[in-house]
Amino acid sequence: MTYKGKKHFSLKDMPKQEMTTMKNLSFFLLLVSAIFVHTVSGHDSFYSRLLNNGIENHRPHVPIGEQPLAKIAIHKAVIALHKSAYIHANPFILGSKGEDTEWVNIKFEYPEPTNDDWVGVFSPAKFNASDCYPETGNWPEAPYICTAPIKYKFANHSTADYVNTGKATLSFQIINQRADFSFALFTGGLENPKLVAVTNPISFANPKAPLYPRLAHGKAWDEMTVTWTSGYNIDEATPLVEWGWKGHIKKLSPAGTLTFTRGSMCGAPARTVGWRDPGFIHTSFLKDLWPNTIYEYRMGHMLKNGSTIWSKSYSFKSSPYPGQDSLQRVIIFGDMGKAERDGSNEYSSYQPGSLITTDQLIKDLDNYDIVFHIGDLPYANGFLSQWDQFTKQVEPISSVKPYMIASGNHERDYPNTGSFYNTPDSGGECGVPAETMYYVPAENRAKFWYSTDYGMFHFCIADSEHDWREGSEQYAWIEKCLASVDRNKQPWLIFSAHRVLGYSSNDWLANEGAFEEPMGRAHLQKLWQKYKVDIAFYGHVHNYERSCPIYQNQCVNSEISHYSGTVNGTIHVVVGGGGSHLSEFTKINTFWSLYKDHDWGFVKLTAFNHSSLLFEYKKSADGEVYDSFTISREYRDVLACVHDGCEATTLAT
Ligand SMILES: [Fe+2]
Repeated sequence: MTYKGKKHFSLKDMPKQEMTTMKNLSFFLLLVSAIFVHTVSGHDSFYSRLLNNGIENHRPHVPIGEQPLAKIAIHKAVIALHKSAYIHANPFILGSKGEDTEWVNIKFEYPEPTNDDWVGVFSPAKFNASDCYPETGNWPEAPYICTAPIKYKFANHSTADYVNTGKATLSFQIINQRADFSFALFTGGLENPKLVAVTNPISFANPKAPLYPRLAHGKAWDEMTVTWTSGYNIDEATPLVEWGWKGHIKKLSPAGTLTFTRGSMCGAPARTVGWRDPGFIHTSFLKDLWPNTIYEYRMGHMLKNGSTIWSKSYSFKSSPYPGQDSLQRVIIFGDMGKAERDGSNEYSSYQPGSLITTDQLIKDLDNYDIVFHIGDLPYANGFLSQWDQFTKQVEPISSVKPYMIASGNHERDYPNTGSFYNTPDSGGECGVPAETMYYVPAENRAKFWYSTDYGMFHFCIADSEHDWREGSEQYAWIEKCLASVDRNKQPWLIFSAHRVLGYSSNDWLANEGAFEEPMGRAHLQKLWQKYKVDIAFYGHVHNYERSCPIYQNQCVNSEISHYSGTVNGTIHVVVGGGGSHLSEFTKINTFWSLYKDHDWGFVKLTAFNHSSLLFEYKKSADGEVYDSFTISREYRDVLACVHDGCEATTLAT
C-alpha cells in the first residue's frame, strides 16, 4: 500500500506490521507531510477557538476536582515516532460472546522512558488532523490530533521501574462505545504530548449493539420509558422493544430515535477536542402498564433483511397507582459523577466516591423502588465520551429501576446560552447530552422541570439552572406542580432542585452570607409554605445536611427524630455527597442545622402507608443509617390551619 497522495493518514490504511511498531520511516514522513498539508488547508481557526473558549481556560465553577481529560493539551501533540518503540493491544476482538465490557492488556516498550510518559485510549481508533473542526479565528499552528482520548494512564501506572527499563504493561477496561479503539504511547507529559507509538485498531464484535438501558417514568403513572444507545440509525434498522409480563407472551413496541451533532454544542471543549459522536439514542414508551407488575424487556434493532439484533433481557416492576397504599421506597442523591474501575489515572480521584455509591446502590437493589439523581451526572464537562461510560456505570440500577434525573450546572450551564448561571460548567454541552441521553417527563426537555408520582409520593423536580424566580415560567410551573397534588391520596410532597435553594451550611454559601443560592428562599419559600412541602432536596453542595422544619426562616419544631401532627414547616436536605469531591462546612453555627456529614451518601425515603414516613441517610461506604427521622400524621393534619397559611374562609354559614 502506498500513502502517496493521501491528504490525511488513517490507521485503517496501514499494514498491520507498520501499525504495530511504527518503524516505517516513510510512514513518518507521510505524517509530517500530512501535518503540512493540514497546516495550509485552512483549519487554523480551530486552535484559536480552543484557546479562546477551550480546555486550557476551562475551570469548573466549583473549584473541586477537574475533568482529567482537560489536563491533556492534545491539540499540541506532535509526531515523534521512535523506530524502537512499540505498543501492542490484546485481544483484537472484544465482546465476542456479546459482552459490552472487556479488559484489554497493553504491552509497550520505549527506549527513552520518563515518568511523564502516558498511554491514551482513542476511539475512534483513527486520530489525525482530518478530525479537526473548523472554527473561526487564527491558529498559531495546526494541530495533529483534535480529539481527546477517552481515558488514559501514565506508563508507569502498573510497572514502577518503567523509567529504568522502558518496558511496561497496562490494563484498560473498555466498554462498547460504537467505534474502534487504539492505544497511543506519548512522551512529553500531558502538557506537551509527543506520539511515539500506536497500536492496531481493536473493536467490539458488534460495535453497534443496543446497550445501557435506562428506565424512567413517562408522563403518565402507567407508562415506563426505556432509553438506550446504539450505532443503528433508522435507515439501517428499526428500533423496538420486546416486552411483557414475566413468563407470558411478549409484544413489540416502537422506539423513537434521537442524536445530536457537534454543531448543537455551545462551545469548547464539547465543540472541539471533547466532541465524540453520541451514536443513536432510542426511547420506547411502554404504556398501559398494570400496577405493581413484573415486566421483562429487551431492546432490538430489526435489520433490512428481517433479522433482529437483540440486547440482553432485563426486568422491572411497574409503579404503583398514584395514592396506592403499599410499601414504597425512594432513593435520592446528587452529584455522583463517574469513575473508572480500571483506575485510569486521575479518573478514580475525579469523583472519588462515585463507585462507592454506585456499588452500594447495586448491592441494595432489592430494597428500593425508584431513584432520583438530582443533577451533576458524569461531570463530562464537554468530553462526551464520558456519557457512555456513565450510562454503563449506572446500568445495573437504571435498567431495573426508574432512574429519574435533574439538571445540574455540569449538564447545562454555559455563558450566553440561557442558563440562569453564566458559568462554563457544562464544558459547552449546554444541556444537550443530558436532555437526549436521559428521558424525563418534562413538557420540554430543554426546560428540565417535571412532576412525577410514585404511589403516595408526589415529586416536583425543578431546574435550578433556569430562572425559578417569581414571575418566571418555571415559578408558575412549580406552583402548579405543588398545587396539583391531592394530599389525601399522596400525602408525601417532595420538592427538589440541583442547587441549594433552601438551606446549607456549606462554606462558600456561608461566605456569601445567605446559606443558599442567592434569591432561592426569597422567591420560593412562600410556595413551600403555602403548599406544605414535606421535604426539599438539593445537591450541588457535596455533603449531607438536614434542617429542622422551617417556616419563615424559623425552626417550628424542637423535635429531632420524630415529627407528628400538623405540617407546619419544610425540612431542607442537602444530599449532594453522591461521589464528587466533598464540600466543607462553615464553622458558623447554623441554628437550623440538625445533622451534618462530610462523607458520601444518599437518602432513602420509605412510605409505609399514608400516615407513616421514614427518612434515612445512609453512608455509601457501609450502607448503614447515620441520620433518620419519622413523620406520623393523618390527612386532617395536612389540612389543618398553621401559622398564616390557611386558605381564606367566609363568615357565611
Ligand atoms: Fe453542581
